[in-house]
Amino acid sequence: MAAEVVHRVVQGDVAVITIDSPPVNSLSRPVVEGLVAAVNAANQNDAVKAIVVHGAGGNFVAGADIGELKEAAKQAGKGQVAANLAVALEDFEDNAKPIVMAIDGFALGGGLELAMSGQWRIGTTKCRVGLPELSLGLIPGAGGTQRLPRIVGPQLAAEMMLASRQAKAPEALDAGIVQALVEPDALLDAAMTAARKLAAGELTPVQASRDESKLPSADEAKQLVDMAIGMMGAKGRNLIHPQLCLDAMLCGITEGYSAGLKREEENFRKCLVSPQAQGLIHMFFAPRAATKVPGVTDQNLKPAKIATAAVLGGGTMGSGIATSLLQSGVAVTLKEINAEALAAGQGRIESNLMSRVKKGRISQAKYDEMMSRLTAQTDYSGFNKMNIVIEAVVDNIKLKQAVFSDLESATGPKCILASNTSTIDLDVIGKKTSAADRIVGTHFFSPAHVMPLVEVVRGKNTSVETLNTTIALVKALKKTPVTVGNCVGFLVNRIFFPYGQVAGFLVDHGVDPYAIDKALFDFGMPMGPFRMGDLAGIDVAKFAGGILADAYADRVYQSTLVDYLFDAKRFGQKTGHGYYIYEDGKTATEDSSLAELVEKARKDAGTPPALEVTDNDIVEWTLLGVVNEACRCLDEGIAIRASDIDVASVMGMGFPPYRGGLMKYADTLGAKYIADRLTGWSEEYGPAFAPCKYLLDKAAAGGSFVD
Ligand SMILES: NC(=O)c1ccc[n+]([C@@H]2O[C@H](COP(=O)([O-])OP(=O)(O)OC[C@H]3O[C@@H](n4cnc5c(N)ncnc54)[C@H](O)[C@@H]3O)[C@@H](O)[C@H]2O)c1
Repeated sequence: MAAEVVHRVVQGDVAVITIDSPPVNSLSRPVVEGLVAAVNAANQNDAVKAIVVHGAGGNFVAGADIGELKEAAKQAGKGQVAANLAVALEDFEDNAKPIVMAIDGFALGGGLELAMSGQWRIGTTKCRVGLPELSLGLIPGAGGTQRLPRIVGPQLAAEMMLASRQAKAPEALDAGIVQALVEPDALLDAAMTAARKLAAGELTPVQASRDESKLPSADEAKQLVDMAIGMMGAKGRNLIHPQLCLDAMLCGITEGYSAGLKREEENFRKCLVSPQAQGLIHMFFAPRAATKVPGVTDQNLKPAKIATAAVLGGGTMGSGIATSLLQSGVAVTLKEINAEALAAGQGRIESNLMSRVKKGRISQAKYDEMMSRLTAQTDYSGFNKMNIVIEAVVDNIKLKQAVFSDLESATGPKCILASNTSTIDLDVIGKKTSAADRIVGTHFFSPAHVMPLVEVVRGKNTSVETLNTTIALVKALKKTPVTVGNCVGFLVNRIFFPYGQVAGFLVDHGVDPYAIDKALFDFGMPMGPFRMGDLAGIDVAKFAGGILADAYADRVYQSTLVDYLFDAKRFGQKTGHGYYIYEDGKTATEDSSLAELVEKARKDAGTPPALEVTDNDIVEWTLLGVVNEACRCLDEGIAIRASDIDVASVMGMGFPPYRGGLMKYADTLGAKYIADRLTGWSEEYGPAFAPCKYLLDKAAAGGSFVD
């Protein structure tokens, strides 16, 4: 079995070992075993004087086998993958016959750890190296926390590991991660030449674990680590792996390489069994699962090519959607109602793309090329050539119905007609057309060119072909499609409806709004519900909240606090004043004048007795209703699977990914606990809190929401 994924050929006096495990040569157990066997065989062959290791298919090794890590995490860290690799790499580094690592494409995670155990490393101009283990809640587990600081110095090593940042070829060369760069087709020859020179003593081998020249004193190293932890700030809240990574690195500097390696293994195991790693590993697989839609993506249908797209409306959302389409190579026509609105929309697109130029992410030439694909107009001319039209006009049912009737006549019979509405029922939008099969929802999140999630909304008559092409388009935009059923609010806005409502309920029951925001921020949300209301706009929140309240009237609690803010024109961050004050336009400061409005709202609610709540209570009060609504969405088929809700909650609402998303978090509490708490609240405070049937059934049956 091992021989299938690792091949060895002897070319003269050099053994060339090829890792050949498509698609990306991940370091599965058979690959590690195959490598060890191939190096041993080369060592036993007297004709071989040196060894070259490289990857087939354009990559060295793109990382560990994450499926194996998931299994190991499940088995409480009993998996041996990383430990075995660490031992093998110690042997490789000390191998009597020199080993040259020839790196094309990705050398990431275990791949870079393998590369760093070589006695010479040659990269190609296309190589990319990094230790991204922390993005999975882990730390490098095969010597990475020890060898990288010795090669590049602890400061750069810490920065690369904490940010899971990949270095491109020139940086890899500058930092000493590779000793030379060549073009991909010259790689094997260059590596064999270096191998022969090493064997002949004409090159001095590099041995990462032996070289301490870049290590600072113990005191300096401690300061550096403290600074790195400080710089993580709020990003590091609730996480253990950044500290454990730095701890292993520091131990290796202050107590020596072997002690550091041992600490790394201990810390790796702590991470592997941590809920954070399990959450993040789940979040690695869940978005991939979300792109698979039974009955749609498994039908062997070829998605239609999307080369031309029109966007209706160049406001907040339309300009972001157009930006995203331009970035993925599509020719975009922007339509607005008049010249002034058109110029404003075009300006937004220009500034979205220009900010990428300013940040060095794209060149001026690329910007010019993208802008050359943008056409701006105020009529429907040329719409008969469009592959897709995405509507992002203001949320008004009559307007949208009229627009879709116009679109039906302006476009060809195969053109997909998509709506970006966040509140209006998709079937209602298409009611005045006979094109329901090609009408679909593409619910982007704001800012649309940045946010990674798109809810692909399936109307009653949306065709499988339309859905399949739309899903493919969202993937081409480098976003994650979550396909959802049609209902008011779709998935994210609907399930998070109780989040703000219950926060209002708690305020009416005497809980300080700022304490609510803080508890949820500390839990890991990017911001609490009141700060979020300010960001979205109190006017927008009131409007959207009203639509959701009408649709789900059997489970509504509405504090009048939002009305008082609205009446006072405290619309949130955009007006400099909402629940918070924004003196510089962006920094939220608590505002003592809110107390007066809170008192009025409390009076409207009949001044109920104040609730005594802990931070944990606040989190559960506000989030268990969200879980309850998510269960309804599973019951009604609005969401296909629980892990899709995890993806949507993380990518759409910023739910902490290290908790694995909403339903994985719900699993940590258990369906029974959640149902019992909701039942208790509903007995005391009314049916708005009552657990739904799906949740009660799950509580009775046991088992988890997420597989
Ligand atoms: N703003 C958000 O955070 C957000 C998030 C997700 C979805 N949405 C949805 O996106 C849609 C647009 O929202 P927005 O915030 O971008 O609104 P916006 O007010 O910023 O922009 C709407 C634009 O549509 C233009 N317009 C109106 N009628 C038109 C027509 N017939 N043809 C072409 N253009 C027309 C207006 O001139 C305006 O520029 C709404 O359906 C909304 O529900 C908004």
